[in-house]
Amino acid sequence: MSKICVIGTGYVGLVTGTCFADLGNDVMCLDVDETRISKLNQNIMPIYEPGLEQVVSANRKAGRLTFTTNFEEALEDADFAFIAVGTPSGVDGEADLQYVRSAAEAVADLVNHPIVVVNKSTVPVGTGDWVADIIKKRRAGKPLEFSVVSNPEFLREGSALNDFMKPDRVVLGSTNRDAANQVAQLYNTLRCPILITDLRTAEMIKYASNAFLATRISFINEIANICEELGADVTEVATGMGYDNRIGRAFLDAGLGWGGSCFPKDVKALAHMAVLHGTQPQLLQAVMDINRNQRRRIIFKLRKALGNLNEKVIGVLGLSFKPNTDDIREAPSLEIVHLLQNEGAVVKAYDPQAMENASAMMKNIVLCDNPYQVAEGADAIILATEWNEFRQIDFERLHKAMRQPIIMDGRNLWDPNQLKEMGFVYFGVGRGT
Ligand code: NAD
Ligand code: UGA
Repeated sequence: MSKICVIGTGYVGLVTGTCFADLGNDVMCLDVDETRISKLNQNIMPIYEPGLEQVVSANRKAGRLTFTTNFEEALEDADFAFIAVGTPSGVDGEADLQYVRSAAEAVADLVNHPIVVVNKSTVPVGTGDWVADIIKKRRAGKPLEFSVVSNPEFLREGSALNDFMKPDRVVLGSTNRDAANQVAQLYNTLRCPILITDLRTAEMIKYASNAFLATRISFINEIANICEELGADVTEVATGMGYDNRIGRAFLDAGLGWGGSCFPKDVKALAHMAVLHGTQPQLLQAVMDINRNQRRRIIFKLRKALGNLNEKVIGVLGLSFKPNTDDIREAPSLEIVHLLQNEGAVVKAYDPQAMENASAMMKNIVLCDNPYQVAEGADAIILATEWNEFRQIDFERLHKAMRQPIIMDGRNLWDPNQLKEMGFVYFGVGRGT
């Protein structure tokens, strides 16, 4: 059993802390956000993540998991300090490291025993060395025995607990092999491959992985657009490609493109890093351009179908950046709603989980209680997020409620033939047949 302090109790910090506690460690999760910590101390989850509440509750009861805003208390006796603070996009697309810096400074100012500082945040290559330097310089008069290990996180929102507990791999990078081995011990029971490498390589593995996944999606979206013009169906193209073991089927779903709190900022940060160091990230640039155009393309298709969008009522189903999360950061829906409103459309919307976040971030949008309210008087419906709830929809009821039965299936969730037979005018993404 190890004593672990997790600095930053957001998606990654909360899941990491909870899972390490569940594996038998003594974990204290720390955050500067008092409301967040006070909620967690009442077992109120600050995020929607399936299964999280039960595991937090069980581990709090067992006394293995505590939440605090007190840095001294959290760092006292900790064997490991995991940094899991945000690294949002700065003005030029670079990763903003101010929160990582203040976490490193807290360790330097408050710790007086040997400690392993583990960086879980997604950070530019070289940040591990930079963190070590910050700590060393602040402790110039009173050296601290510490090592920095990079341990990038690969979990996905919506399946975070499962991804943490059953990872495809754990990546550890350090200049100190012993420190990396100590962190590896924490993961030993998960029985997954553990790659131990140097700091910079570990940091790059994280960016390269996210950028590669985003590239696959942009690739299939480009193929989808070509399919539309040539009369092929991209969903079957992806299936046919996916049978090839060298390709695989995952992350080949064409649609409105990738959003969320990570792909957009990480691809941007990697491209920024490349430019800063004198290389031209042409592929990354194309990957970002294709992604942005996917959202514009659906508006183009809608405008073509309706003549123009002024005073048209458009329903949007799904607002979160993907199903099973309430997160709408960089969600395709945000840009689509903005583009629709810009052209004078009235936008109505419903999401199973993201309504609270949407009401805070989206202006002049009519938020509805269910898909049928959205359909009432609508000239078209755009499906922006493929929630399971929308698979089971009563299409007859939807059809009756709409003013014009136009469906823009932005996630290729529905069966085009079924909908066409029911009298809908159906548009998918890359389903040109
Ligand atoms: P988040 O915004 O949900 O949470 C960050 C938390 O850190 C916030 O609660 C904030 O109050 C807290 N914080 C900021 N400064 C602090 C400080 N000095 N001391 C203590 N707490 C502080 O962020 P997140 O989604 O958990 O992401 C964290 C990092 O992990 C990012 O670098 C992100 O790219 C990476 N990541 C995220 C995911 C994901 O699915 N969200 C997956 C893999 C990696
Ligand atoms: C992604 C990665 O999958 C995680 O491994 C990584 O840890 C995380 O980013 C991170 O660094 O934060 P996440 O953003 O939670 O996880 O969600 P994904 O399931 O990867 O989906 C990202 C976006 O791509 C969503 O908008 C989704 O709709 C879109 N997507 C995904 C597609 O458009 N097509 C696909 O085939 C797959």
